[in-house]
Amino acid sequence: MPVSHEAGWAHADGALQGPSWLRVPADVNDLVPLLWSATAHKNADGALVVGGVDLRALVAEHGSPAYVLDEADFRARARGFAEAFADYDVFSAGKAFLCTTVARWVAEEGLCLDVCSAGELTVALRAGFDPARIGYHGNNKTTGELRRAVDAGVGRVVLDSFHEIDRLAAVAAETGRTARVMVRVTAGVEAHTHEYIATAHEDQKFGFSITSGDALEAVRRVQDAAGVELLGLHSHIGSQIFDTSGFEVAARRVLTLHAQVSSELGVTMPELDLGGGFGIAYTTQDDPADPAQLATEITKIVEHECRAFDVPVPALSIEPGRAIVGPAMCTVYEVGTVKEVGLDAGASRTYVSVDGGMSDNIRTALYDANYSCTVASRRSEAPPVLGRVVGKHCEAGDIVVKDEFVPGDIAPGDLLAVPGTGAYCRSMASNYNHALRPPVVAVRDGRSTVVVRRETEDDLLRTDVGASDIG
Ligand code: LLP
Repeated sequence: MPVSHEAGWAHADGALQGPSWLRVPADVNDLVPLLWSATAHKNADGALVVGGVDLRALVAEHGSPAYVLDEADFRARARGFAEAFADYDVFSAGKAFLCTTVARWVAEEGLCLDVCSAGELTVALRAGFDPARIGYHGNNKTTGELRRAVDAGVGRVVLDSFHEIDRLAAVAAETGRTARVMVRVTAGVEAHTHEYIATAHEDQKFGFSITSGDALEAVRRVQDAAGVELLGLHSHIGSQIFDTSGFEVAARRVLTLHAQVSSELGVTMPELDLGGGFGIAYTTQDDPADPAQLATEITKIVEHECRAFDVPVPALSIEPGRAIVGPAMCTVYEVGTVKEVGLDAGASRTYVSVDGGMSDNIRTALYDANYSCTVASRRSEAPPVLGRVVGKHCEAGDIVVKDEFVPGDIAPGDLLAVPGTGAYCRSMASNYNHALRPPVVAVRDGRSTVVVRRETEDDLLRTDVGASDIG
């Protein structure tokens, strides 16, 4: 059958085939293993089983929608990074997803933890996370937040502006404690990712620019400040990056500064943090590197540059967020309505409305992100049709999965699961339209445990002062 790929869309005999990267599945019931957590599989009924738990049973017990967190997969990915980057400190980036249970898993697997707000710090400390193994980020930390971080004894504060250097020095003087810090620099690398999640090019809010000389000046000021101990430089070039050449260029520029600090200021900084950003597979378009390969390549680059500059290799750290928790979670929804919408040239698209949407996954609307999905409650023998999974919010942009083949007989009551929702979905979830944010249900060895419960309408009214007047 002739297939054209005009404007990124494939049409075959007038039928819409989706974007050109999307392949018609040989069997719409099959999972693409790369997209799913390690324990996910379909059972004889065609139901999706994760962590030994049939998602039909999970939904019967905990309701839908729900985030399903595969504990074994999370732990294996965390351990995988710790083992591959054995000589590094691996900081799990809490912003991707954080709750006390997961903070404890991170500690048990031997990783450090990154937080970027007072709220995340609170969760980490409540989980009993060793503060010395916590890094504190952010581009606008208040004096109060810095005081809390220093009082708690966090292992490193990553400084992002001249104002923060002054603020932290004042906090150190006031508390009589020494704050251990890193200086966040922008390496001027354009990471090939969405503009809002690329952070090392010049025209954005994070870090001190290396090219303008601000970064060297920041190091000088930190060095001169009392009560502040300089550990090293920090660079994070963005997120969902597949091409290690971005890390290569960034590492070269950051190490040039690292060496300059050594030669011009006579200071050998003991540490260097290269940030996170390692991409994961959301669809079959994505081809992520494994941690061992990343470790080999990144270490090679750093060692090479240090040799060239004749400086000792600093103690290295990285901060994967998405690559640990992202693939460990899927979201299960229930289908509510199905609508066939006619398009040009006789083609049509099957709109599948689920009981969640942009309030539990804003990434599709915000970053134009692609996701995949599968029917989680049964097998289907119907031929696949091009579907679009949408939510129940009052907004046309409320799309969860833009393009995926779904069984032609998909119907209300079917469960639908979307893989790869562990990173930045629950953590960016909202109460838009006063939706109740779904629970996070951890699954392992056939058991399911709620680690974050579903919100209730009482939760919605808790901060609404007028609500208590009525009744
Ligand atoms: N380190 C720093 C300093 C960061 O700013 C970030 C992410 C990470 C590590 C972890 O990056 P990851 O390995 O997870 O890519 N909300 C966006 C992502 C924003 C990332 C912000 N910083 C999304 O949903 O894609």
